[in-house]
Amino acid sequence: MSPIPVIIDTDTAQDDCVTILLGLLDPRADLRAITMVAGNVGFDQQVANAHLTLNVAGRLGQVPVHVGCRAPILREWESAEDVHGDGSGGLSMDLTDASNAEEHAVNALLRLTAEAPGELSIVAIGPLTNIATAVVMDRTFASRVKSLYVMGGSNNGRGNITPSAEFNFYVDPEAAQVVLDAGFPQLTIIPWAPLTLRDATFARPEYERLYAPGTPLARFFRRMCDATIDYDESVGVEGSTHPDSLTLATLLHPELVQDSAPYRVDVDTVSPLTRGMSSMAWAKFGRTPNATVVERVDRSGFYALLASLLATPTEPSRPVAGLG
Ligand code: BDR
Ligand code: CA
Repeated sequence: MSPIPVIIDTDTAQDDCVTILLGLLDPRADLRAITMVAGNVGFDQQVANAHLTLNVAGRLGQVPVHVGCRAPILREWESAEDVHGDGSGGLSMDLTDASNAEEHAVNALLRLTAEAPGELSIVAIGPLTNIATAVVMDRTFASRVKSLYVMGGSNNGRGNITPSAEFNFYVDPEAAQVVLDAGFPQLTIIPWAPLTLRDATFARPEYERLYAPGTPLARFFRRMCDATIDYDESVGVEGSTHPDSLTLATLLHPELVQDSAPYRVDVDTVSPLTRGMSSMAWAKFGRTPNATVVERVDRSGFYALLASLLATPTEPSRPVAGLG
């Protein structure tokens, strides 16, 4: 099976970093570009985190990093430093010459999909601002994307930033709705709850085993995820959360998906109380589906994938202060 050409659209912090590592090191992935969107932490910090991740994998400068939309379409940007800290565990590196591609992320999405219509997949693991902007700029964009995998929403379940809303859909709900209405030929959604809370959240002993190999990647993983697991445990989420890396994993390893179903998914853009809440209508309601929602994955298979990723020996391209 030849590697899957993929673009990762990301608000790089914590599990976004793990996702980039998977995109770089999984033999089933051919990571063509990283596109940056406003989400988890300060914009420039996110960009630094993306370069840091490339660096720890020994791939600094080898995948273009395109800077994208620096704010949601209509809303004030609300980030999540309270959850992630700086998203990289305070690690730093010399960023001299770790330059961003000149082309804006949205233009890169439009160009790359025009150069290879029907061939590229996009894994969107932040707010959907870049993807929605590409949809609006070029109404043929969606039809050129082979498959779009989105981490966002909850399957009529709990949110994480409000009782009813998951962070990515909450930050830019209008963008999420534009994407849901855009007619992507294959749109797959990985919802926060109940899926990732059950199948992509690893309790502290499992988490500790993931970084036990002590490789540069494992040490990086620990630094990135420690702040987030501390936060999550303090709010009743019992473990380290990996919704973004699960999203890429389901594209690369579809055999991990045990249950999925067609749904009509919409996002609340009206009520302040339920801003960003996703309504996921299953077959009973007779509405035309616009997405496949993943409902259950092979939890131990996903865990084994992360374990093998983090045990991979790499030589960072440059020294990383604090990595040990
Ligand atoms: C999503 O929000 C972010 O904090 C994570 O990276 C993930 O994409 C989970 O709600
Ligand atoms: Ca993310």
